[in-house]
Amino acid sequence: MFVKMQPMVRSAALAAFILAFAATAQAPTSLKEAYRGDFAIGAAINTAQITGQDRRGDAIVEAQFNSISPENALKWENVHPAPGVYAFDLPDQYVAFGEKHHMFIVGHCLVWHNQVPAWVFRDDIGNFVDRETLLKRMHDHIFTVVGRYKGRIQSWDVVNEALNDDGTLRQSPWLKIIGEDYIAKAFQYAHEADPQAQLTYNDYSLENGAKRNGVIALIAKLKAQGITVTSVGLQGHDGLTWPSVEDEDTTLSAFAKLGVKVAITELDIDVLPPATRQQSAEVSLKVQQDPKLNPYADGLPQSVQQQLAERYAGLFGVYLKHRDVVTRVTLWGVTDGDSWRNDWPVKGRTSHPLLFDRSGQPKPAFQAVTRVAATAKTTN
Ligand code: G3I
Repeated sequence: MFVKMQPMVRSAALAAFILAFAATAQAPTSLKEAYRGDFAIGAAINTAQITGQDRRGDAIVEAQFNSISPENALKWENVHPAPGVYAFDLPDQYVAFGEKHHMFIVGHCLVWHNQVPAWVFRDDIGNFVDRETLLKRMHDHIFTVVGRYKGRIQSWDVVNEALNDDGTLRQSPWLKIIGEDYIAKAFQYAHEADPQAQLTYNDYSLENGAKRNGVIALIAKLKAQGITVTSVGLQGHDGLTWPSVEDEDTTLSAFAKLGVKVAITELDIDVLPPATRQQSAEVSLKVQQDPKLNPYADGLPQSVQQQLAERYAGLFGVYLKHRDVVTRVTLWGVTDGDSWRNDWPVKGRTSHPLLFDRSGQPKPAFQAVTRVAATAKTTN
């Protein structure tokens, strides 16, 4: 029937046909299948999931994801709680879980100012240690932890959240005691401990220009010094309107231009009323409970489910556009009930930021995310 149509009418008809087909295209049954060939799809898993106590959560992880991150198990305070004391039981189970299911295994995180015990920075009488002592502690920690999982953990978040929102270096004990080169040293030690591992600088709110520019300058400087930095981790603790799709696009383009890969490392989308004016994932923020800040304690209304679905679809559309640069998209948690956002920055809220609800059912956002990939494949 196209034969009798004018060219304009023909292409309009073709476009309408493609759109109609895309709308009805069978969404793939799993996230990892939907994005196979584009990028890995990961989830951060918690203690109950690592140890097999959360069977429902594990079933979702096994069916849907081909990468895992440890939500807390490999943070310094858990894996190295006291001088010379390492607790590898949980991390060993974490890595075994990933290997059993042939997953891309992420290590999170080596050098951070949070969840690091006070003793790391102090001497026997409570004073700050000197630069050489702290460098030695950092070196030993990285060599012991990265070394144990050499060739098994494929990617490490080496330095986490070293920058302030304005792009300057955060005044952490690492910076105060060692000086600016603590970041270069951490990457150098990690590379020496496992030369094959991918090494990431991981931070939040890099869609904001000032902070992004700070990271770009930092990575450019490290690269000029010959330090191995494989990727930048955009944490992706997002909201319904921030960052815009354009901000995300600009950010991915900027890091592509810098010559590093990008991993979306901790994605979740907040639907609750903002408790602060800052766009941040700063864990030290605390805001008082207030029922007005917790409107969806009995469930998420359909209209907001839909908004969340469209928002997820918009972001995954940008990730797909940059699939030559984006290596992995990791959701920070498995179901809504698992999310850190239920307790941050207000304790005890009912948050709905992920793709699976509290009973482990896929949400409209899940369908939207799989459909974006299916549609892209149909139209390519
Ligand atoms: O393990 C204790 C438990 O023994 C105790 O009974 C319980 C009482 O509150 O607390 C438990 O520890 C909590 C821990 O999560 C494990 O659930 C801590 O209080 C709580 O502060 C900690 O929160 C973690 C947060 O990092 C702390 O920095 C979140 O689970 C984790 O999702 C979050 O992850 C960070 C990334 O590592 C870096 N980027 C930001 C992201 C979100 O904050």
